[in-house]
Amino acid sequence: MDLKGIKLTWLGHATFRIETPAGKTVLIDPWVMGNPKCPDSEKNFKKVDVMLCTHGHGDHIGDAVEIAKKHNPVVVAIYELGLWMANKGAKQVSGMSKGGTQTVGDIKVTMVHATHSSGIEDGDQVIYGGEPCGYVIEFANGVKIYHAGDTNVFGDMQIIRELYSPQLALLPIGDHYTMGPREAAYACKLLQPKAVVPMHWGTFPVLTGTPEALRKLVSGVEVVEMKPGQTI
Ligand code: NI
Ligand code: MN
Repeated sequence: MDLKGIKLTWLGHATFRIETPAGKTVLIDPWVMGNPKCPDSEKNFKKVDVMLCTHGHGDHIGDAVEIAKKHNPVVVAIYELGLWMANKGAKQVSGMSKGGTQTVGDIKVTMVHATHSSGIEDGDQVIYGGEPCGYVIEFANGVKIYHAGDTNVFGDMQIIRELYSPQLALLPIGDHYTMGPREAAYACKLLQPKAVVPMHWGTFPVLTGTPEALRKLVSGVEVVEMKPGQTI
């Protein structure tokens, strides 16, 4: 998979750091401090220019507020989750909704559908966080990466392929809280990416899906198994 100068680093679970060719740092679903798979050397950031949040669960936004306060990135989230982030101290929130595209830093971000839940665990309360989502990120060099968030497979992934044709898909495969390999293989059929990076697996014993299991079920797509901390 040639990302044409984009550096994609998996920090374990659904957390990715992307360096664009122009030097911007994009962080997706920032969960590092409590993330058992995130290497210690990756828990602190030099800078964060853009932060994308897929939904309000702690294993996705666990460190979002702290990082937003420290690095002041543009925070992209669905409207209600964005309001909550702003209330917690994020200064540059750019809330949006599904179907919309906005330019942040040097990337274009389209918010797309995901089927999941999105309550925000805030102290002993669960707060409405709007709907969960995924993102299609378009880089200046033409590469498009789809981060599915937490979701099962859904038929409108075909629309994502027809409208955006992402070359690389970051898909959850762990099962239990998201789709497992069987549904992820069907997602590959709908999305037809060149390559898929499995995520949201191996973090806890209950997440039993593996890249190997996915690889056995797909054809015509490269399954790229990353190690936490690895960059491609
Ligand atoms: Ni979730
Ligand atoms: Mn999750």
